[in-house]
Amino acid sequence: MNFKRTLITSALPYANGPLHIGHLAGAYLPSDLYTRFLRLRGEDVLHICGSDEHGVPITLAAEKEGVSPQVIVDRYHELNKNTFEDYGIEFDYYGRTSSATHHKTAQEFFLTLDQKGIFKKKSEQQLFDESANMFLPDRYVKGTCPHCSFDQAYGDQCESCGTSLSPSELIHPISAITGTTPILKETEHWFLPLGEFEPFLTSWMDTHKDWKAHVQGQIQSWITQGLGDRAVTRDLTWGVPVPLENADGKVLYVWFDAPIGYISATMEWAELQGDPSKWKTYWQDKQTRLVHFIGKDNIVFHCIIFPSMLHAHGEYVLADQVPANEFLNLEGRKLSTSKGWAIWLHELKNEIDIDLIRYYIACTLPENKDSDFSWSDFQTRVNNDLADVLGNFAFRTLSFIHRFENGVIPTPQNLSEEDIKTLKSITTQKEAVEQAMEGFRFKEAAGAAMELARIGNRYFSDSEPWKTRKSDPQLCANTLYVSAQVCAALTWLLAPFMPTKMSQLATQCNLGSSEHLSSDLLWTDCTEEIIKPGHELGEGAVLFPKIEDEWIQFQREKLQNSPSE
Ligand code: 2FM
Ligand code: ZN
Repeated sequence: MNFKRTLITSALPYANGPLHIGHLAGAYLPSDLYTRFLRLRGEDVLHICGSDEHGVPITLAAEKEGVSPQVIVDRYHELNKNTFEDYGIEFDYYGRTSSATHHKTAQEFFLTLDQKGIFKKKSEQQLFDESANMFLPDRYVKGTCPHCSFDQAYGDQCESCGTSLSPSELIHPISAITGTTPILKETEHWFLPLGEFEPFLTSWMDTHKDWKAHVQGQIQSWITQGLGDRAVTRDLTWGVPVPLENADGKVLYVWFDAPIGYISATMEWAELQGDPSKWKTYWQDKQTRLVHFIGKDNIVFHCIIFPSMLHAHGEYVLADQVPANEFLNLEGRKLSTSKGWAIWLHELKNEIDIDLIRYYIACTLPENKDSDFSWSDFQTRVNNDLADVLGNFAFRTLSFIHRFENGVIPTPQNLSEEDIKTLKSITTQKEAVEQAMEGFRFKEAAGAAMELARIGNRYFSDSEPWKTRKSDPQLCANTLYVSAQVCAALTWLLAPFMPTKMSQLATQCNLGSSEHLSSDLLWTDCTEEIIKPGHELGEGAVLFPKIEDEWIQFQREKLQNSPSE
């Protein structure tokens, strides 16, 4: 299939709390790396995200604080939107599911499916809290898991064994609102009969054998277990009201409305472009390539439920790739916000250059298995890769040229085999980065980009320009010319990972405007001769100071002492 454009979506985070490093590693850094890479290649790409503002996680947070859900979502929508900006995660549009456009779009979607006769309407017994006078869907109820006996399992999932549950399966259910034991009460709901979509899902999956093994494995296991009817409505007051008569007090299930948020956010983006129907190009033209970036806990929703909804609707493109990541642990333990075992992005940004975090997380992404964030590993990576290799190489090269060549790139003559080989490594490493990026292997891409810095650093040391400067000035000129090309090429290869630092390096190399990497220069401009002889460099400066032991110790203690809820 020849695609003309790429629509990238990043999972809409719940606006019920701040973002932590696990969020960054799960969906948002990979989606940003991919978007930046496609943009560098000059492709038509749109990156959509926003706040998921419905569902029980929001109302529970509101109840805990004794405020309305609106207060919670307003607070965290703003905070999270700003955090993404601070971390250089570039969305074309950051929407929110409480918007009027979203409510309307989700309701229309539901009505279309209803009119097509897709839903089953069924009455069933559900848990009801008599003292709170409300049904207890999803996380409103806790109890003992029927599979592993964990006694704090939620109504929708057991976090101990990972099994997805329905509230009535829990042994000894307890209301999360009042702590009382609920009764069973009859209620009527709309269900998406997922079993009917199995032939579609199976043949669709057959065309996506290139997806990550763990993603395909999870989908297959859902299908093998048997896809039942899935309720798409809830007895709640917070959410998108079910747009039908006789549906008072019922809202759409958050996982029905949230992915439609990708569509409504694209509509709002198109509106802002002054071309309100432009969203259709991204969602309805078959030449759009749709890519969902998510964490592994979202796989069933993006690979089974949402595609079934889109297929049933009939007017939308389906995902071409869902490069879901596994989980990031922290210092060997599972991240847990309730136990205070997390690093909050809005706090961390005041304590360190965020490009260092971006780089370290890119090298640690849980792409195919869970991975671990550790402060000592962070220090090693930054001090070795960034300070000792990349920073050292760039600083040595540029300051040498400033000192002995008045900051002007010398003219090369009779390049040696080693010089030519080093120049060629620009192409080799560029292709390696490109292939890894295309395959959603961002860790490998970061490694391939850093390998060029290593090659450059080694070449500079081995060529000993401080000696040849006197013994054979042309040899020295050749070394400086070649090193400068490698240095300039690094600004392209590492730009998606460290956009701010690489802009600074680009300025030091005097490559167009400091924002060249996101605007005027393209991936194709990264060649084996980026800087011509006679080109004048900009000011040089140390890019990566080392991280001191005391700073790492401070972060470790901060984490150990962070309070649990
Ligand atoms: O898991 C979550 O944080 C969900 N809020 C993700 C929603 S993704 C999309 F479907 F909106
Ligand atoms: Zn369990």
